[in-house]
Amino acid sequence: MELQANITSLAYLVAAVLFILALRGLSSPETSRTGNFMGMLGMAIAVGTTILSPEITSYGWILGAVFVGGAAGLIIASRIAMTAMPQLVAAFHSLVGLAAVLVAGAAYLNPGSFGLADAAGQIYIASRVEMALGAMIGAITFSGSVIAFAKLQGLVSGKPVTFAGQHMLNALLGLGAVALVVYFCLDQSPEVFWGLVALAFVLGFLIIIPIGGADMPVVVSMLNSYSGWAAAGIGFTLHNNALIVTGALVGSSGAILSYIMCKGMNRSFFNVILGGFGGDSTAASASGGEDDRPVKQGSAEDAAFIMKNAGSVIIVPGYGMAVAQAQHALREMCDELKKAGVKVSYAIHPVAGRMPGHMNVLLAEANVPYDEVFELEDINSEFQQADVAFVIGANDVTNPAAKTDPTSPIFGMPILDVEKAKTVLFVKRGMAAGYAGVQNELFFKDNTMMLFGDAKKMVETVTRSF
Ligand code: TAP
Repeated sequence: MELQANITSLAYLVAAVLFILALRGLSSPETSRTGNFMGMLGMAIAVGTTILSPEITSYGWILGAVFVGGAAGLIIASRIAMTAMPQLVAAFHSLVGLAAVLVAGAAYLNPGSFGLADAAGQIYIASRVEMALGAMIGAITFSGSVIAFAKLQGLVSGKPVTFAGQHMLNALLGLGAVALVVYFCLDQSPEVFWGLVALAFVLGFLIIIPIGGADMPVVVSMLNSYSGWAAAGIGFTLHNNALIVTGALVGSSGAILSYIMCKGMNRSFFNVILGGFGGDSTAASASGGEDDRPVKQGSAEDAAFIMKNAGSVIIVPGYGMAVAQAQHALREMCDELKKAGVKVSYAIHPVAGRMPGHMNVLLAEANVPYDEVFELEDINSEFQQADVAFVIGANDVTNPAAKTDPTSPIFGMPILDVEKAKTVLFVKRGMAAGYAGVQNELFFKDNTMMLFGDAKKMVETVTRSF
């Protein structure tokens, strides 16, 4: 028996180390495949160890659930578009939250079989705390993630829903939930437990509704963090070390990712946690949208001529490149430029696209060499020496209003200084604003040439024109 326990602990330790190596690997596109493999191996070891433990006496339900869940995951993951990834992640987090609530509920209804109660059926105090926290965080994660999914999928309006006294109400409900956790330690009656779960569901809903669609990726990452803490709480209830470690890793990495995203957009982390921002984006759309002022418009042939005669070109990809799936055509265009002796580099803004690393993933998929891809702080000073900044489907991340207009919703966000290049080529379909809903003054500058059209078709035509 003791040997069995030691082997289980060792296997969980190996799984935990593999998860840490997976996170390390996933931090760079070069090592991300190995990282993914480590994660899969770690998960296989953790699940296998749990399934083989002597406490499991029948496999029917487990195999059925693995088959149904695995098939659903396989179908969804193979069909999902890259651009729909944030809502898919939100949907998956909602399931983690719900699982935490269900496990806590099962443990509450039958504490004896989980070894969490004495002979008289009184749940141990430590188990009450774990159960209550797991259920509370799980319920907040569930309803918050469902709202995030609905907003990102366009099932409900992405606009922030605000009302007077909202923060006060959220604060009171938050305090009420904490009070119920404490009360549950004194009184394990069903009203207290299920009352806490219901309150947490409402709280998750209320925390997310005031947040606008533009800020939703940060929220998704934050909910990712919550789902990790919920899983860790449940790990304590189930006395499962692997779940505690994995939950803590997910919880802390999600929190760090939210912090990095907030920094990239110059948002306050605490503001996100309190669900207090995004209200600006409605005001923002008023200043965005179509603009009648004339712009200098060029053709693919013009762009080909300018770039072929340039000494250096910096490519700035954004969300539009992802929508058009233009990354392969872009790499081919750049191959031609390099053959002609032009120096090509790629500048990646930390929040270009709709999720962290979005552009890096797409460029890696198109086999763009890693040594040509630079982060904002490493390349921003290069624009003033560059002949061409080729902005493909990016908008907000180049908008100088972030530096000059204190009333702009993106004010304070670091931006790529593309306007310092001799010529700026903007590939986009029309004059529409970017995600933040604000007009980009760069479109009207003398050194800017607009290349109107779908990003993929445009770069293909440029390549043909060389
Ligand atoms: P955006 O500012 O959203 O601009 C994308 C541009 O692509 C649009 O102006 C659009 O103009 C163009 N476009 C769309 N489809 C296209 C197509 N098929 N072909 C060519 N162009 C197309 O993107 P960005 O510069 O990457 O900035 C990202 C935004 O998302 C920022 O506001 C950022 O704060 C926000 N955000 C990002 C993240 C992360 S982690 N990445 C998280 C939260 C929020 P047309 O419609 O005229 O074509």
